[in-house]
Amino acid sequence: MKAVQRLPKPSSNQDWLAREREALASVLYRYTPIVVDHAQGSYLYDVDGHRYLDFASGIAVTNLGHGHPAVRKAAHDQIDRLFHTSVVAHHQPAIQLAERLAAAAPGKDNRVFFGNSGAEAVEGAIKLARYVTGRPVIIGFQGAFHGRTYGALSLTSSKWYYRERYEPFLPGIYHAPYPYAYRNPTGPGDEATLSYVFDYIDEMLDTRVPPRNVAAFIVEPVLGEGGYVVPPADFLPRLRALCDRHQILLIADEVQCGYGRTGKMFACEHFGVVPDIMTVAKSIASGLPLSAIVADARLMDQWQPAAHGSTFGGNPVACAVGVATLDVFEREKVLENVEVRGRELMRRLQELQRRVPGIGDVRGLGLMIGVELVKPDGKPDHDLLDKVRKVSLDSGLVLLSCGTHDNVLRLVPPLNLSADELEEAWEILQGAFQEVAA
Ligand SMILES: Cc1ncc(COP(=O)(O)O)c(C=O)c1O
Repeated sequence: MKAVQRLPKPSSNQDWLAREREALASVLYRYTPIVVDHAQGSYLYDVDGHRYLDFASGIAVTNLGHGHPAVRKAAHDQIDRLFHTSVVAHHQPAIQLAERLAAAAPGKDNRVFFGNSGAEAVEGAIKLARYVTGRPVIIGFQGAFHGRTYGALSLTSSKWYYRERYEPFLPGIYHAPYPYAYRNPTGPGDEATLSYVFDYIDEMLDTRVPPRNVAAFIVEPVLGEGGYVVPPADFLPRLRALCDRHQILLIADEVQCGYGRTGKMFACEHFGVVPDIMTVAKSIASGLPLSAIVADARLMDQWQPAAHGSTFGGNPVACAVGVATLDVFEREKVLENVEVRGRELMRRLQELQRRVPGIGDVRGLGLMIGVELVKPDGKPDHDLLDKVRKVSLDSGLVLLSCGTHDNVLRLVPPLNLSADELEEAWEILQGAFQEVAA
């Protein structure tokens, strides 16, 4: 008789990684070699029993930390009742979450469409904008990340390797510069930066891209993967006015910067701007796959039934967790915590910047903070970033990078981070800078 072949019993990170190499596509890049066994609150625990303070939050997803009791309870309760209907029938959690999201989002009369991922929300937003305007063109911004499906990827321009070998992209897509004051080619400062950006857009609309062809601008109110760049305060209001002048729609991609990350529920609220269409994903179901397109009823009501759809979008368990997530935001005053911890972290980082020449820029809103690392000549210093991340990881702190040249430390802790956890992260982070950059 042929012996039953048993799978090896892996016990350590290394064993699991070896097994993964044989089973999973290597195209899925991971920031760390940690094999997570379980997670609780602000900490990850690997299969070897190491503990890591999680300043990545599953890339801005586990905004309430891991395994929040209210989130777990909502998931368990819903699993026991119903966990899938698709478009065969209607269900309560989707209706409840849509009501809550519509009320929480800027604007007065919103409707919601649920999908599964950020990219899917962006695809839907592109389709909605084209559908209701009858115009083909979508203008995005350089450095933006909107996802990896073809429409979203056509708008993504944060790194060359997301796009290599994938052309041709969606036609009718153009890019304008994002207002990135620290690296603005015509000089630093908000005014120079905004002039550069709007002169570029004006020239584009005057010469190459007739405004009547443009369905929408899509913008990250705070640039995420492209470097955690906060635009000058006037940027979004000026973009809104420009859109209104030409009857162009404004899509705010709040997938990364939304949901409390910046200290307000949605980042565009900092700038007093109401977008026509908003995309939300990542943290809305605290880690379960869920995304949403939120748009004014005057647009959504033109989208005819079945013109768009999804088998899994708006899954009952994800939606029930979404409702519980919003409850926690209110009950535990999460936004206030973001303000307090964000201010403290920024203060310490700005102080550290005065001591460490390799820190070129510290910027952020709330707990969406970027630390741009540079060489003495001001060029991006990716190697320094790698070293800081590695030393931090070895000391038990998970940090991400971002930026076109991967030289920006991306600090994305849970939004309910405690003062003690901030202290612990700080000890490690400043120790890492001392070791590699002093
Ligand atoms: C601003 C923004 N939009 C869209 C996406 C795509 O989301 P997903 O990876 O869920 O498709 C991301 C992902 O990082 C993002 O940061």
